[in-house]
Amino acid sequence: MIQSQGEDWRLYRQGPTHDYLGYAMLATLVLLALFMAIRGRIKVEHGMSGIKIKRFSTLERMSHWLMALSFIILGISGLNVTFGRSLILPLVGKDFLGPMSGYLKAAHNYTAFAFMLGLAIAFVLWVVHNIPDRTDLNWLAKGGGLLSKSSHPPAKKFNAGQKVIFWGVMVLGLSLSVSGWALLFPFEHSLFSDTFALFSYVGIDVAHILGLPEAPYSAIQEQQLNSAWHGIIAVVMICLIFAHIYIGTIGMEGAFDAMGSGEVDLNWAREHHSIWVDEVMSEKTDPADAAVAAPAE
Ligand code: HEM
Repeated sequence: MIQSQGEDWRLYRQGPTHDYLGYAMLATLVLLALFMAIRGRIKVEHGMSGIKIKRFSTLERMSHWLMALSFIILGISGLNVTFGRSLILPLVGKDFLGPMSGYLKAAHNYTAFAFMLGLAIAFVLWVVHNIPDRTDLNWLAKGGGLLSKSSHPPAKKFNAGQKVIFWGVMVLGLSLSVSGWALLFPFEHSLFSDTFALFSYVGIDVAHILGLPEAPYSAIQEQQLNSAWHGIIAVVMICLIFAHIYIGTIGMEGAFDAMGSGEVDLNWAREHHSIWVDEVMSEKTDPADAAVAAPAE
């Protein structure tokens, strides 16, 4: 009851965690607003053709939305743990925030399983399309065509920017899942002691670099480190997803359809994923099989 690390942890959570993680999310939103002000909405340069091409199957869209919606619920309910007391309590009072936080906490715990399932299915479906290759170097060298209004570097099903999102979501999502699991079933794991021991084999003293006490850690220290890690990784992923949601909605004309109806305009596809369009077309003897013809207005 008198172990002083509990107090250190409380001060850390209410100080740097709260402030820096909050600034990181605000800074991301400001940068996206600046990008939008400077670049504007990325338009389909040649206008909509009125011809649709199938981009994602029902299973691909279901796994995306399972992962996306559960992540949004996890994000809101998780942020309430860190920011509820300082930001929401003054607005709604403790009689409302208390029970609401209880429900959000339960939602957080159960929704985690839906997120893990969506993440696993999306990984299986998309990993082959996200292996880095030479087209990515060209795409990156041209800044993805994001900065110039006229040139769109060729790309396969996913361009280099999307591969960054994919691997970011997979690695950060896995780390959130593992650390979340250890928080859900506390005092049974020694993730930090074990990981730091692995690093020490190759001569890297992670605890020293991070200014932490030397490993191995007690069960309570493991929980505290895990909780801090879970929060930091969650906010890194939230910032990444802010950018993803921006480009998938208001940031780029025609992009949302890919995950909405599953079909995109042929001109959008040619501008953003030209190699993929050629592949899809060449797989079909009759282009009408690939492109779902719809009369141009
Ligand atoms: C309202 C929220 C969201 C919207 C509107 C949205 C929209 C989209 C769209 C339109 C695509 C397909 C892009 C294309 O055709 O090339 C996509 C892909 C993808 N989304 Fe989302 N998304 C949302 C949330 C999320 C979340 C929360 C996650 C992960 C936790 C996520 C992970 C992915 C991944 C991994 C891909 C494939 C790679 C990529 O295209 O970047 N999305 N999303």
